[in-house]
Amino acid sequence: MTVTARLAEIAGIGRDADRGGYSRHLFDATDAPLRDWFHRRASALGLPVEEDGDANLWAWWGTPGDEAVATGSHLDSVPGGGAYDGPLGIAAAFEAVAQLQAEGFTPARPIAVCAFAEEEGSRFGLPCLGTRLLTGAAEPGTALARVDAAGTSLAEAWAASGRDVAAVGPDPDRLARLAAFIELHVEQGRDLEDRGIPVSTASAIIPHGRWRLEITGEGNHAGTTTMEQRADPVVAAARVVLAVQEAARARPPARGTIGKVTVVPGGTNVIASRVVAWLDLRADHDEDVRALFEAVLAGARAGVEAEGCTLEVYEESVTPRVDFDAALTARVAGALRPEFGEVPAIPTGAGHDAGILSSVVPTAMLFVRNPTGVSHAPGEGARDADCEAGARALAATLRALAGAA
Ligand code: GLV
Ligand code: MN
Ligand code: MN
Repeated sequence: MTVTARLAEIAGIGRDADRGGYSRHLFDATDAPLRDWFHRRASALGLPVEEDGDANLWAWWGTPGDEAVATGSHLDSVPGGGAYDGPLGIAAAFEAVAQLQAEGFTPARPIAVCAFAEEEGSRFGLPCLGTRLLTGAAEPGTALARVDAAGTSLAEAWAASGRDVAAVGPDPDRLARLAAFIELHVEQGRDLEDRGIPVSTASAIIPHGRWRLEITGEGNHAGTTTMEQRADPVVAAARVVLAVQEAARARPPARGTIGKVTVVPGGTNVIASRVVAWLDLRADHDEDVRALFEAVLAGARAGVEAEGCTLEVYEESVTPRVDFDAALTARVAGALRPEFGEVPAIPTGAGHDAGILSSVVPTAMLFVRNPTGVSHAPGEGARDADCEAGARALAATLRALAGAA
């Protein structure tokens, strides 16, 4: 079986007819079929699966024990996301294990294939939810109190899925058994396409933060309220969007995005009373993100006040910069050398579970070339041959890390 054949098995799960691409979120209707697929693929390789208290799946080749080498990614997506962000790392991990088994490799250390819960944070707003809970980077009570767009709390959704809310939280014993974590991921830019190479390692993840902005104005009638009488939060939100663009552009290579906006109540002939906008800021270093946030805030406050509205700001997550383990990355590059030659270690602006796990386990990443450079959108791509090359790169990595010393 190939990586692409494995991905084809889940291609029908979570297709989003309105947005295009895929919408797969924690504990929605796609969650169980995706987990079932993980169980089936693991079982076909003879790997027993366990779920930890944080809804992360672990398929073990060899008895779970010390010095384990874990690899994997996530099965959830952003709303209307691509087919590769997440699932590629899991399909490639199963393919890598299949290749190693076929060649008669016997791991000297246990190997785990993982699927982490809610990496995108699309339902409950906290990216890398599963690994944040696992490592203690998120406090269980605070995380469980988060609510989705329908007002359902994570605690309610957790219990409704049949899981034990009391089991949620850090699992230091499990993490202590890991010697290394490797995440293979589709590249979310065009660097490898431009360089003409199929795979690379990663050097760093730039830091990012997410905030919820609540802009309150005065709901009123679209026909009877003069332009001078209005406190229109939609106009204020437009000023905020421009403030984000201006602040980010003034600090290259910083990035600022408002990609989600809710207008309340949302009527064509109604001046809104409230707008909620979600802000995503990224920059090279932690202090750059903080400075960018302060600049955005100043511009946003001025814009909101100019429209007679008020602004409240809530921090949803802040994720510090990650520099991947240099020694492990060098070992991965060494394992790739016979087939791929010298591969570069490239930085990324996208967040990953590997970034969260890197605070507790030596961690490295592999990227697979993306011909479009597009990600978090239906146009995300990876050539079939590159997906298979990625699996061979991951197999070489696992052979090096889990083989006899
Ligand atoms: C996740 O992919 C993110 O970078 O937001
Ligand atoms: Mn993503
Ligand atoms: Mn991802």
